[in-house]
Amino acid sequence: MSVGTNHPRLAEDLAGKRCLVTGAGSGIGRAIAIALARHGVRVAVGDIDFSMAASVVREIGSDAISVALDVRRRISVDAAFATVFETLGGCDILVANAGVSSINRAVDITDEEWDENFNVNARGVFLTNQIAARHFLAQGTHGVIVNTASLAAKVGAPLLAHYSASKFAVLGWTQALARELAPHGVRVNAVCPGFVKTSMQSREVLWEAELRGLTPEAVLAEYIAQTPLGRLEEPEDVADVVVFLNGSGVPRLKASRKTQRHETMEAATTIADLTIRIFLYIMVQVNGREDSK
Ligand SMILES: NC(=O)c1ccc[n+]([C@@H]2O[C@H](COP(=O)([O-])OP(=O)(O)OC[C@H]3O[C@@H](n4cnc5c(N)ncnc54)[C@H](O)[C@@H]3O)[C@@H](O)[C@H]2O)c1
Repeated sequence: MSVGTNHPRLAEDLAGKRCLVTGAGSGIGRAIAIALARHGVRVAVGDIDFSMAASVVREIGSDAISVALDVRRRISVDAAFATVFETLGGCDILVANAGVSSINRAVDITDEEWDENFNVNARGVFLTNQIAARHFLAQGTHGVIVNTASLAAKVGAPLLAHYSASKFAVLGWTQALARELAPHGVRVNAVCPGFVKTSMQSREVLWEAELRGLTPEAVLAEYIAQTPLGRLEEPEDVADVVVFLNGSGVPRLKASRKTQRHETMEAATTIADLTIRIFLYIMVQVNGREDSK
């Protein structure tokens, strides 16, 4: 399945749903917005860079809207959701994907770098998730939240200590919110991509090369060597998983465990279970894609 593919079962689940994707003007967020739209979702493409958001909306075509938002600021996030509610008539899915990074040795990280990583990556997830959660609870709808964390949320990443810390925060928040909202039928998950071919990663390669006195090619080769697939991930790999997490199969995966475990325990283990399932799912999709070449 590629980003251009409309998976029939998922399209059935998703048709007519309304979604806000943050940081959707480029990279992973752009691929998620396009993939959801291809499955019949009416997408609000949110980004701090309105012109990039507008350009993704033009790619998608009808039924998508662009929304200017700065996830660091509550007033901006409130205004963006107000536009989504008014224009799309509500919101069923939030993909909190906007993120920033910088590369620096832990001993040299500045206050500004630390604050910027936490403001966009962690506070941005908190603000957007909170407003979406309030909306889902008020409407009594079984909404879905997917946060973009990172592999750096599971293993501390050298030269990215501040970024790693902000992404660990995203996972902690996601697990707690999942447990609070599960009894209300709201699903909260996070995806943890590895090295994905985007503008963020191109910047990181250049910064790291300069910091370590290596060529960008040498840094890139190290990233690939750390990736079991032997290649960088594509934004579409992540988008496929996000589409999958919005499908009706996910509650059934969880429900099958209910006979074995107490419900709250089940919510707590959801992230770990899904990480394994997502990994297997990516392997299947990637193998399928490579077979079809
Ligand atoms: N590229 C990777 O290797 C990788 C790996 C793991 C996780 N991630 C995460 O994936 C997400 C997307 O990253 P990407 O690689 O596509 O990067 P990207 O730089 O291509 O895209 C990030 C988008 O977020 C937007 N943005 C930045 N600050 C914002 C703000 N304050 N408010 C709203 N929008 C804002 C940018 O304008 C941009 O369009 C991020 O959360 C990132 O941390 C990326």
